[in-house]
Amino acid sequence: MVIAKFIKDMQVRLESIPTIGVILYNAFVKRILSKSELEIAQSIVQKIGEGVLIDVGSGTGFLSIEIAKRAPKLTIYGIDLSKKMVEIASGNGREFANVHFKLANAIHLPFKDNSIDFIVSTGSFHHWKQPIKVFNECYRVLKGNTKAWIYDGCYNHPYEEVLKLKRKYGSFQYHIVTRIQKLHGFDWEIYNTKIKRLLERTKFKHNFQMILTHGWMKLDLKKGLI
Ligand SMILES: C[S@@+](CC[C@H](N)C(=O)[O-])C[C@H]1O[C@@H](n2cnc3c(N)ncnc32)[C@H](O)[C@@H]1O
Repeated sequence: MVIAKFIKDMQVRLESIPTIGVILYNAFVKRILSKSELEIAQSIVQKIGEGVLIDVGSGTGFLSIEIAKRAPKLTIYGIDLSKKMVEIASGNGREFANVHFKLANAIHLPFKDNSIDFIVSTGSFHHWKQPIKVFNECYRVLKGNTKAWIYDGCYNHPYEEVLKLKRKYGSFQYHIVTRIQKLHGFDWEIYNTKIKRLLERTKFKHNFQMILTHGWMKLDLKKGLI
């Protein structure tokens, strides 16, 4: 409990994960979350096979690289504000010519207006200090009629969802995954109140859905036709 509180407090204070956290994350947490991130990679490449995709808060690059492997005609930019994360991700992705990692804060995405075909993000939203700015920045760079899928942890799920997750992961892994989600995300109730209200203050206000999927909450945001 004390450790969990410490990690949560650090996340509020630090948008970027400190080096020791990056090393532990790369070594342990990623292994547990990789199954659900592979499913996310698959669902993205079913939707988009070419163009330019941004992974916001790409961390050590696992998701960006899995997408790059499956969609060689897609160019992927992983964006992260931690130098250490960008360094590790660039090393992890060096074999793939279609994935690049850049140091940047998502409140200022280094891309032109209406130039991006898809945005994804996993486990980063709860770190954002200025989430409305990040969402509006995603809106700015996306082309018309395209989407951003922002995934983050969700806990205290409704009972049917708990059963589904237990069937999928087995009870032990479910327990570990929900522990991680508790440290990296928000309560189900918070999504349906505060986060819903927050999205209503962004440029995606008329075009968003919240969907529980792969054990994550997915904010499915659409930029309308322009
Ligand atoms: C928990 S890690 C998740 C990494 C990766 N997406 C994954 O699923 O493993 C969150 C990442 O978001 C990054 N981050 C937080 N706020 C950010 C911001 N405003 N702009 C860019 N990256 C950010 C952190 O540096 C960190 O690498």
